[in-house]
Amino acid sequence: DPRSCLQPKGAHGETHLDRGMESQRQICSEKKTILPVEDILALIGDKCDGVIGQLTEDWGEVLFSALRKAGGTAFSNMAVGYNNVDVNAANKHGIAVGNTPGVLTETTAELAASLSLAAARRIVEADQFMRAGLYEGWLPHLYVGNLLKGQTVGVIGAGRIGSANDPIESIHKLERFGYFGNVGDLSTWVQQEPHISYLLFSESYGQFLKDNGEQPVTWKRAATMEEVLRDADVEAVLVNASRGPVIDEAALVEHLKANPMFRVGLDVYEDEPFMKPGLAELKNAVVVPHIASASKWTREGMATLAALNVLGKIKGYPIWSDPNRVNPFLDESSLPPQ
Ligand code: GLV
Ligand code: GLV
Repeated sequence: DPRSCLQPKGAHGETHLDRGMESQRQICSEKKTILPVEDILALIGDKCDGVIGQLTEDWGEVLFSALRKAGGTAFSNMAVGYNNVDVNAANKHGIAVGNTPGVLTETTAELAASLSLAAARRIVEADQFMRAGLYEGWLPHLYVGNLLKGQTVGVIGAGRIGSANDPIESIHKLERFGYFGNVGDLSTWVQQEPHISYLLFSESYGQFLKDNGEQPVTWKRAATMEEVLRDADVEAVLVNASRGPVIDEAALVEHLKANPMFRVGLDVYEDEPFMKPGLAELKNAVVVPHIASASKWTREGMATLAALNVLGKIKGYPIWSDPNRVNPFLDESSLPPQ
């Protein structure tokens, strides 16, 4: 019953997520965070209507053909990203693919903002210093970082998350932190526009910019990534809350070593769960384990959407199956019989 997904409280007031976290803790303690293909095949077995999967799993020919053979028609990633899914293979086997956009927009944008602040103000280094018992009293030069006020932000990919237009979303929060104009010399404060330079990877993503696609005057659309980088004060902080492979991590490590004043905040890695050698030792990097969407509200929303994507397809509830379909144009009539 899909409505059971919407009943959040268990008998003792705990939510589905609390129970999920409990088993995650058990899984983590057994160091089995990712199911190998053989385990997923065993779970699919001979009869399986649909699957909710994770972005750590490789959903392609092998798994989709097994799901089809087991009578399945639906798969949903419990993620907005679906770079782990071979949509062509899903189409070939007539599997509807879902993802979970919307519920993680602000949570992810806030993490990106948090990483900017943590990296700029050296919060993690300072925390480690404190815990190591090294603090002996206030000093003028203790953990001096960068002031964000006056910096120009470059947003590479101003889609749902990059341009999140909820009033509390991060970029606007950064605006309120004072990402406007250019401080330059403190004595000659001038406000300059624009203060956010953004790149759209596709015209269709423009729909997410606030004011119905009309960017606020403080947002400047750049034509190329190079232009964003020229506009932005990238030498202050680089943040990645999208996917690891968009950054050449080994090159980043070299750059961080050579430029101690350059700081990064990373949520994702080129070869998860691993970091490139050297990164862990660098004080000018703040690193967190792919937790950009990890607010309780968002994770419950992602789980619910993923369940509705799968149940909507299996039970034929179009109202639930349509909005989050990655392959809405799947032509099921052309498929071989099951
Ligand atoms: C997380 O990385 C997601 O794509 O939802
Ligand atoms: C710092 O605590 C100050 O008073 O300047």
